[in-house]
Amino acid sequence: MAIKALLQKVTRKEAKKGITAGEVILSTHQLCKSYQTPHGNLKVLKGVDLEIKEGEMSMIVGRSGSGKSTLLHLLGGLDRATLGKIFFKDRDLSHLNDRQISEYRLKHVGFVFQFYHLLPELTLLENVLLPTMINGGRDQKRAKILLSRVGLSGRADHYPSELSGGELQRTAIARALMNQPDIVLCDEPTGNLDEQTADQVFDLLIQLQKEEKTTFVIVTHESALTAYAQSIYELRDGVLEKIRKI
Ligand SMILES: Nc1ncnc2c1ncn2[C@@H]1O[C@H](COP(=O)(O)OP(=O)(O)OP(=O)(O)O)[C@@H](O)[C@H]1O
Ligand SMILES: [Mg+2]
Repeated sequence: MAIKALLQKVTRKEAKKGITAGEVILSTHQLCKSYQTPHGNLKVLKGVDLEIKEGEMSMIVGRSGSGKSTLLHLLGGLDRATLGKIFFKDRDLSHLNDRQISEYRLKHVGFVFQFYHLLPELTLLENVLLPTMINGGRDQKRAKILLSRVGLSGRADHYPSELSGGELQRTAIARALMNQPDIVLCDEPTGNLDEQTADQVFDLLIQLQKEEKTTFVIVTHESALTAYAQSIYELRDGVLEKIRKI
């Protein structure tokens, strides 16, 4: 289905259905990130203020190189800020040590990347189970339910090399939801897919957001998709600007 048709199908009102914007779950205060490069200090984020509410789908748009992935990595505890604060509920992430940050990532955050980041030597089921295996547990039942939910129940024993891009991304989405994270961070989740497949993957994200009541933060180049979001931000010149709140 073309994006326009899909947009007609899921109106803003429908996108809101079943989602009650709750408390602020993740927030940043004057968040700054600089990189040391051979050419000097590159200031990418220059004081980002952001508030993500529970159950919302927030989208971040911005030009290539504006710092979207950098921001997502900081929110997910994959990298540390240079200055400023990130609060997950009432916990300041900058005060956590490396072990506590890993625990934050594992328990509370799911990631979906543009290039899927599945492990080629593991089956789809094992890939989906990965977050629980690191934790010492194995919840095959939930992994199978999730694989079925993303339309891949018949492919549980297949390897990533046997799947299409859309199937790989659907597997990555199932994996991101495995630990029932409080927040799922998606970096260009449809950026590597053709339009029709991208629509299907996005439709799935919206359905899962409703079903699992998960909070999503999605970085996207695809401005048509922002119609689904409760909050839209644009990252420009290192600062985040709120574009719309329904
Ligand atoms: N580890 C790093 N060391 C030095 N510079 C970096 C590093 N990571 C990112 N950058 C620079 O920071 C800026 C922002 O990068 P980032 O990947 O966050 O942008 P983006 O908005 O995600 O871009 P795109 O839309 O192309 O994915 C870019 O100029 C990039 O070159
Ligand atoms: Mg990026």
